[in-house]
Amino acid sequence: MQVSDPYSNLGSQDRAVQTRIAEAMEARCIDPAQVALRRAYLNDLELPTGALAVEFGSGTGHVTKNLIDMAGASSALGIEPSPVMVDRAQALFSAEPALTFQTGDAKASGLEDASVDMVLMHTLLCHVPGPEDVVAEAFRVLKPGGVLAICDGDYDTATTQIGDFDPLDQIVRFMLDQNVTNMWIMRQIADILSGHGFELSQRRAHGYVAEGEAAYFMTVIERGADKMVENGLVFPQTGEALKAEAKLRLEANRFFGFMSYVSQIAHKPRGV
Ligand SMILES: C[S@@+](CC[C@H](N)C(=O)[O-])C[C@H]1O[C@@H](n2cnc3c(N)ncnc32)[C@H](O)[C@@H]1O
Repeated sequence: MQVSDPYSNLGSQDRAVQTRIAEAMEARCIDPAQVALRRAYLNDLELPTGALAVEFGSGTGHVTKNLIDMAGASSALGIEPSPVMVDRAQALFSAEPALTFQTGDAKASGLEDASVDMVLMHTLLCHVPGPEDVVAEAFRVLKPGGVLAICDGDYDTATTQIGDFDPLDQIVRFMLDQNVTNMWIMRQIADILSGHGFELSQRRAHGYVAEGEAAYFMTVIERGADKMVENGLVFPQTGEALKAEAKLRLEANRFFGFMSYVSQIAHKPRGV
């Protein structure tokens, strides 16, 4: 387990770090391939009329909105420990009365027992030490028959490698080491869910390949190169050279960025 993962305690990072992460999160949220990925697992859930859905770890709020416009919930609540993220989500979606955000912890959400129709965790669990506690909280707050949707990266597949010994790929490996608490969460989640009483439904893979300006992957390269410099791993000139390599590849149509995501749907059994 990596203790360096800033997403595991984002609220206590300094504001500049939270803001940089928020900007990267937004770049990922609005990437059309990421939107399609979320639609692929959210659009065929059968929620009851008037459903209330909750996103644990709602970040900038774009994915919380998808609980309404993709999953068909009537109202959605985002719970997120970072006040910077909550403020940003509230400002972005102030015109959407069905969408609310509050600070809180997915391990102790403060929601009533059996009070919500759906819980979503989108790229949350890879950052949480003790994901079992979050799964137990989802089980507690869901109504019998309620839906749990989890999607996260299958991080060992993340790469920018275009050939043997490609130095750019070291940034991806480094960023995984620095920013992900559990790389293997989606390979472990089925066991955790069934151990907490959930009935398993669809599990799907979603390949994500960077297109066009590769905006999200570029934030990974830039943040990774800067962090390598900050940690004293490389000289500033080398950090800049790695960023330049990524930009040159993009201009020359040589840039490749890929990661597979996995989604898992589960239900709280009826009659529990
Ligand atoms: C990678 S971001 C994903 C945000 C959003 N789901 C998205 O996909 O854009 C992970 C979020 O989980 C939040 N988080 C981390 N630990 C949490 C916890 N214990 N309870 C709730 N949220 C948490 C972080 O603050 C961060 O905003």
